[in-house]
Amino acid sequence: MKRIRKAIIPAAGLGTRFLPATKATPKEMLPVVDTPAIQYIVEEAAKSGIEDIVIISGRGKRAIEDHFDKSYELEDVLLKHNKISELEVIKGISNMANIYYVRQKEARGLGHAIHCAKTFIGNEPFAVLLGDDLVYSEKPCLSQLMDAYEKYQSSIVGVQRVDKEKVNLYGIIEGDDIAPKVMKVKDLVEKPDKAHAPSNVAILGRYILEPEIFDILENQKPGKNGEIQLTDALKTLLAIQNIYSFEFEGKRYDLGDKLGFVEATIEYALRREDLKQELKAYLKDIAGKF
Ligand code: G1P
Repeated sequence: MKRIRKAIIPAAGLGTRFLPATKATPKEMLPVVDTPAIQYIVEEAAKSGIEDIVIISGRGKRAIEDHFDKSYELEDVLLKHNKISELEVIKGISNMANIYYVRQKEARGLGHAIHCAKTFIGNEPFAVLLGDDLVYSEKPCLSQLMDAYEKYQSSIVGVQRVDKEKVNLYGIIEGDDIAPKVMKVKDLVEKPDKAHAPSNVAILGRYILEPEIFDILENQKPGKNGEIQLTDALKTLLAIQNIYSFEFEGKRYDLGDKLGFVEATIEYALRREDLKQELKAYLKDIAGKF
């Protein structure tokens, strides 16, 4: 039985949709309430049992490394001021998982970013978590996919249905239902236009992949938007291995979109006991005023 121990989190993108915030701050470090977006993703991986995480980093992303590193000075100050709960939170961040960094020298697309981790992963199946897809669920999204992997022992993409108007934003799959929430994938297409989309079942930032994908990515030609696309490489993989889709349970937020980011911030705050009451009253008060 193959086990998933390693995960890749790509974080090398330039974050142009969030300028000017991302001019000097990595997009992945923008906070949802008080926690950097990428920390939620690392937490999800750690809670799912991942031991080793490689973050695909790039120029200007040093803040991510600092965030997951030990902060002796901060820990010392918090201890001296007897701020024990804050101290535990800070220590917890640096102990979450073993985190490694690989730099992607040029932004050549998601497929290229994944390929940068080839040596780190070696010859075993692994997970990929995309930072723009934040999933709030009882059981961590990746853990749901890992359960499905135990059964199917072949690559799995995490999917949900999206609005038909938005299929051009995602990798879209076509498949046959084989069990509740599970399809055997027949075809995949990256960001099709509405008229040509085979369905509205979208890949939403969670993958379990077999290592054969690396050899395919090595020779993958640029696709949509001139980038080396993971979806295109998966389509090639389909010729030699089965790929399944698993419809995960949970609310997914699109942090790659300004409105999605604001929605996540509001809803994550509403789930927090320390903010819920006052925020609810505030939202009620301002509704209709703008
Ligand atoms: C990437 C993938 C796409 C996937 C999406 C999920 O696109 O290429 O297949 O559906 O993430 O968020 P991006 O949003 O990075 O352009």
